[in-house]
Amino acid sequence: MSHPFDKNIMTTLAGLNLALSYENAAVDRLEKRLSESIDPEVKEKLSRHLAQTRDQQDLLKERIKALGGQPIAEAGELPIPEPPQSLKTMIERGSTPSQKEVWESINDLIIERAEAIMYEGGIQALELLKADKKTIKTLQKILKEEESFANWLLRNNTRIAKRLMKKQLEEKKKKREETEESVTTTATTV
Ligand SMILES: [Fe+2]
Repeated sequence: MSHPFDKNIMTTLAGLNLALSYENAAVDRLEKRLSESIDPEVKEKLSRHLAQTRDQQDLLKERIKALGGQPIAEAGELPIPEPPQSLKTMIERGSTPSQKEVWESINDLIIERAEAIMYEGGIQALELLKADKKTIKTLQKILKEEESFANWLLRNNTRIAKRLMKKQLEEKKKKREETEESVTTTATTV
């Protein structure tokens, strides 16, 4: 039978690896978002959070190794709402790049909030397990970063969505005017 202290370390390691698996998934997601995003301000924030997330992976790996564990390379599944297939196809095929950006920025917020919730729960659990102070401090640092990005998204998503929708309307109007102009030109030359 193993000593209860060892059991606590095993649970701490499992928790740290779980967090790392979500950060592994977050890096993949942020890289994809960064390559697809059409808004420079959002891109800048995503790029900053991607660098932060890579640092978080390193911090978690460091703690796992310090406690005698092996850092996980697998990625967990991030909580992204999944629409029913019929609506999903409609959204994916029928959305403009601006609409897609708004849609994904909501998912960004959901993910960051979920990450913060998971770290809060993890910290509480590890405090009950009397995990070492360095590990708790590491998780608190990461929690602050997740909260701060989630708060930024919450405060700015609406403003950015309005800007994107305005841009889309202007582009539509411009296209309509160009078509009308070419129709008039063709009509007068005929
Ligand atoms: Fe994050």
